[in-house]
Amino acid sequence: MLKHLKESDHILYEMVQDELLRQRQGIEMIASESFVPYEILELQGSILTNKTMEGFPGRRYHAGHEVIDRIETLAIERAKALYRAEHAVVQPHSGSQANHSVYQALIKPGDTILGMRLDHGGHLSHGSSVNLSGKIYKSVFYGLNPETETIDYRDLEAKALEHRPRIIIAGASAYPRFIDYERIAAIARGVEAYFLVDMAHIAGLVAAGVHPTPVPFADVVTGTTTKNLGGARGGFILSRGEYAAKLDKATFPGVQGSMHMHIMGAKAFTFMRAGTDEFKGVMTQVVKNARTLGEALKDRGFRLVTGGTDNHLLLVDLRPKGLTGEKLEKALERVGITVNKNMIPNDPEKPMVTSGVRIGVTAMTMKGALEGDMQKIAGLIDEVARHPQDETVLDRIAAEAREIALKFPLYPGIEEE
Ligand SMILES: Cc1ncc(COP(=O)(O)O)c(C=O)c1O
Repeated sequence: MLKHLKESDHILYEMVQDELLRQRQGIEMIASESFVPYEILELQGSILTNKTMEGFPGRRYHAGHEVIDRIETLAIERAKALYRAEHAVVQPHSGSQANHSVYQALIKPGDTILGMRLDHGGHLSHGSSVNLSGKIYKSVFYGLNPETETIDYRDLEAKALEHRPRIIIAGASAYPRFIDYERIAAIARGVEAYFLVDMAHIAGLVAAGVHPTPVPFADVVTGTTTKNLGGARGGFILSRGEYAAKLDKATFPGVQGSMHMHIMGAKAFTFMRAGTDEFKGVMTQVVKNARTLGEALKDRGFRLVTGGTDNHLLLVDLRPKGLTGEKLEKALERVGITVNKNMIPNDPEKPMVTSGVRIGVTAMTMKGALEGDMQKIAGLIDEVARHPQDETVLDRIAAEAREIALKFPLYPGIEEE
C-alpha cells in the first residue's frame, strides 16, 4: 500500500510499519478508536486530496467543482438519511471544529454556554478554560449526582435557571450511560437556550439504533465520523432546517477555509456503511461486549462508575485496587493492552495521574472480538492490576494478549516487513 513511500522515504515508511504492527498485535481499547475499512484508507489516500474547494455545492469559489459538488451532496444526503436530520454540514475537519461552528452560528462572544464538567466526563470544546470555547464564551458547568454518578438533571436545571445560558450542551467523552435528551431539551426550552448534543462518542451506536437518537430533541447535533462510526477522520453537524444557513456560514467562512475533499469522500462512504445491516450487527455486538467486559471486571473486584454501561465504554474506578490510572495505563501498555487513564467523578488525583481508566470496546469489536474474548481480556486486565510490576507475569500476559489480538487479522492485504 505504501510502495512509493517505501522507495522515497524509508525512515517514515518504517514508522508506519511499526504502527501497523502495534495495531495488529495489540488489544486496542481506547474508547475513541476504531479500525476503518479498506475503503476509508483508499479514499483518504485518494486523488480527491488534490482539489481545493471552498463554499457549498452550487455556490463555489473555485472552478472545476462539478465532481466535488456531487461528492459533497452525496455525503450530505447520506448523513441526513442516516440520522433523519433536516440539514447536515459535512465540512468540519474534526468534532471540536464542528462545535466551534455551532457556537459561531448561534451565539456571540461573551454569551454563556452550559456544558458537562470536564472532570465528570465532558469535552474540552464544551467550554473548558484551556480551550477556545472557554476563552470566547462564558462557560458554566453541570455535573454528576454523587450517589448515582449519572447526570444530575436537577443541578443542570438549577444552573440553567441561574445563568440563563444561550446554549446547553449534552454529550461527553467518558460517560457510560444514556442521556435523557428529552429532559434536557425541556430545560433548554424553559430558559430559551439552544440545545446542542455532541454525540461524537456514540455516533455509530445512534446510527445503528442501539442508542437513543438525540436528533428529534436537539436544535443541533454534532459528531465525528471517526470514533464509534469507524470511518473518516472528521466531524459533522446535523440540525433542523431553520439553522441550515447559519451553520453553513459559520463553518465556511466562519471557522474553516477549504474543504478536505479526500475526507469528504470518506465521510460519504462512512454514512453509507453505517446504514447497513452489517454495521448494525457490529454496533449491537459493541453493546454486548461492553456489558460483558463490565460484568467480568466487576466479578474481579473492579468498581465501575455508575455500576455499568449502556454504550461502548466503561469508566473504572481503581481506588479499591490501590492503583492510579497512570500506573495501570502504563502496566497495560507494557503488555499490549491500550487504554487511557481518566478522571473519575470528584477524582482526588491530578489529571496526569487520575484514579481511573476509560476502556472502550469499539475497536476490538470492529476487529471481530466477541463476549468470550471480553471475558479473557478482563482476566488479563485483572492479572496486570494485581501484578503491575512483576516482569515475569507481565511477559506471560503480553504473550497471551498478543495471541488474542492476532486471532483477528487486521488488513491482511497490507504487507508487513
Ligand atoms: C464528546 C466529544 N466531542 C468532541 C470531540 C472532539 O473530536 P475531535 O478530536 O475530532 O476534535 C471528542 C473527542 O474525543 C469528544 O469526545
